[in-house]
Amino acid sequence: MRTAPPGACPAHAENAGAAARRYHARHGRVLPTIDPAAGSTAPKHHPGVPVLPLPFPPTFPSPCADHGRAAFPECLGALLALLNGITRVDWTAAGVGAGRPVPSGGGTYPAEVYTATASGLCHYLPAAHALELLSPADLRDDLARALDRPPLEQPESVLLITSRLDANLARYGLFGHRLQALDTGVLTGQALTLLESAGAAPTAHARFAEEELGRLLGLDSAAERVHAVVTARTPGAITPGAPLLRRRTARSGFEPLPVPSAALRVVLSEAARPVPLDHAAPADCDLYVVAQRVTGLEAGCYRYDPRTGRLVPVTGDLTPRDLFPPGGPGELAGFEAACAVLVTGDYEAGYPGDGDHWYRMLNLRAGVIGQRIGLAAARTGLGAGLRCDVDIAAADTVLSTRPDRTTLLAVLLGPERGSGTPACHLLGREGPL
Ligand SMILES: Cc1cc2nc3c(=O)[nH]c(=O)nc-3n(C[C@H](O)[C@H](O)[C@H](O)COP(=O)(O)O)c2cc1C
Repeated sequence: MRTAPPGACPAHAENAGAAARRYHARHGRVLPTIDPAAGSTAPKHHPGVPVLPLPFPPTFPSPCADHGRAAFPECLGALLALLNGITRVDWTAAGVGAGRPVPSGGGTYPAEVYTATASGLCHYLPAAHALELLSPADLRDDLARALDRPPLEQPESVLLITSRLDANLARYGLFGHRLQALDTGVLTGQALTLLESAGAAPTAHARFAEEELGRLLGLDSAAERVHAVVTARTPGAITPGAPLLRRRTARSGFEPLPVPSAALRVVLSEAARPVPLDHAAPADCDLYVVAQRVTGLEAGCYRYDPRTGRLVPVTGDLTPRDLFPPGGPGELAGFEAACAVLVTGDYEAGYPGDGDHWYRMLNLRAGVIGQRIGLAAARTGLGAGLRCDVDIAAADTVLSTRPDRTTLLAVLLGPERGSGTPACHLLGREGPL
């Protein structure tokens, strides 16, 4: 057994992933019967603390582009709106809903976002687009000390992404914990995308002293835990481009029409970009494609080679439809989709070093990749839908030459049906992202 790297949750590492392995076998592999009537728990708020409203809609480009460090707290509003705020109103079969820039399993949004800057520690309220001031103290040094690999210079901003442990359990049972790890990965990916585009050189940290971070945030560890920390320098302009605001799940389904292979390749190369994480993974997440209607690509199964950009045929005669249990909601979507991208990973490779914590780290990484696929699809004009309801055993037949790997997440791609579900966008649509 490899020794755990410094700070890598040694208590968890000591059991070499035994608990995570048990969890995955019982709850993490199979989507249970979902109770759609069960809502998610209410988002967190801290009664009695000062609430600092942020201007809505936020100003773009964000003020820090013009004023540098002094104005950074102001541009937090722009960053937070595009990270986890309410950016559109969706008309759905169930009525009118608040749409966000990021997807979330079942729309349950179990994650919370905290910010630490020179002005203090705050919790973001998405529905009110406001900050709850939890402490006026500058806690950045204390937070950075709890990281396994703190940045060399004091970060200008620290974003902490937590998960409320019971947020989606009523609907998904214990499978919800895996969804929470994927969801916090999606949010981490969005934070990285926004901060990278603003030149703030962000790093996502997955190795840290979790109890200490929880203590600094005042969390009840039985109810909410820190899943990721994103440190960054002062951002330049934060400007939402049309694709970032357009990103959403293709809820009306897909037209069963071919998509250009060039668009698929753009999505894959974006998804396979290195993720700025605080650790080198013992095994990367590999991408596989189950193609059905992709112009210039024979129907079949492929592994994406990120070094050459080639799609290498692998054995298996699956279609996207075969990835889903028959009769379930995924079957029709799979039938209509032009292709599916499978995000795969290796649990066993990380247990010796990080123990049970690796389970969350790997799903977090898959969530980052899922967010990138959704955004790149919006950029190339494709409809997309992240799916965790795949039949993992069926999907894993594509990985027959790599039995160490398993499917973590699937993304269906295709032309969105008609003009899609109506939505009213609340923020501007200009900019390059
Ligand atoms: C990790 C993850 C897994 C998801 N799994 C499914 C799924 O199995 N089936 C499905 O219809 N949608 C799935 N979704 C999509 C969500 O239902 C969708 O993101 C959410 O309702 C919010 O809508 P929006 O993406 O249009 O903003 C998933 C999303 C995420 C982030």
